Amino acid sequence: MAARNPKSKRSTITIAHVSDLHVGSQYFISNLITRTVDELNELAPQAVVATGDLTDEGLRQEYKTVKIFLDRLDCKNVVTVPGNHDSRNVGYLHFEEFLGTRNKVLKFDGATIVGEDSSEPDLDGGRIGRERYKWIHDQFEENNFKIFALHHHLLPVPGTGRERNIVYDAGDLLEVLLRVGVDVVLCGHKHVPYVWRLENLIVINAGTVSSLRLRGLTKPCYNLIVVEDGRVRIYRKYPFGGRELIVDFSLVEGKYCKWERIDSEIMARGDLL
Ligand SMILES: [Fe+2]
Ligand SMILES: [Fe+2]
Repeated sequence: MAARNPKSKRSTITIAHVSDLHVGSQYFISNLITRTVDELNELAPQAVVATGDLTDEGLRQEYKTVKIFLDRLDCKNVVTVPGNHDSRNVGYLHFEEFLGTRNKVLKFDGATIVGEDSSEPDLDGGRIGRERYKWIHDQFEENNFKIFALHHHLLPVPGTGRERNIVYDAGDLLEVLLRVGVDVVLCGHKHVPYVWRLENLIVINAGTVSSLRLRGLTKPCYNLIVVEDGRVRIYRKYPFGGRELIVDFSLVEGKYCKWERIDSEIMARGDLL
């Protein structure tokens, strides 16, 4: 795979990626999100992206609580997209009231983040839809670091049981994103963190940051993406815990190194051997 032109990859960009807060769930742990907000305020990333399932049932009271947590972030660049749980019970109306439009564009420091609503009311599955592709294409600028955010996973995630609810138009959307030259996709939904590289696209799944709706041996966590000197480094951070380097990718040489913790968690039982 040919390396990309590094001309656009300037300065340092740090992005925090949280997902699947599930405020209102019996499994929601407020200490985890409070701690995460404190950690992020100390880290001071340029942007925080929250990829959906912020609430558990899309209820107004749940959104009010989400808003309280997000307002505690010192970061001025916060991008939120709805998840399937947020659109339950016509919750997408409350999303718009408290968190703004369901599709968003944010540009800062040489980066562009496009967030898209992949949810469909009262369905667990998700889609973007062909009617949105041109709009997505038109939001990105040639020389920017390009990030696309949505709730549903765009590639299957290992360690999550039977595959379901992957973005229905994942194939077409992947092709659009590759043609646009998107660098990073941020998504959630499965509550299992994982990173894939597909051609020059890095697809980053986040785990649940503040709930115990966990699969297998995974733990609540969030992602940190650091773009610096033509390199993309992806860290997994555990609230109250340490952080691990998961991916180190050179945009200049195309060299890609991955250390996935979930590999060892699953392979410890031999399931993937
Ligand atoms: Fe979720
Ligand atoms: Fe979800």
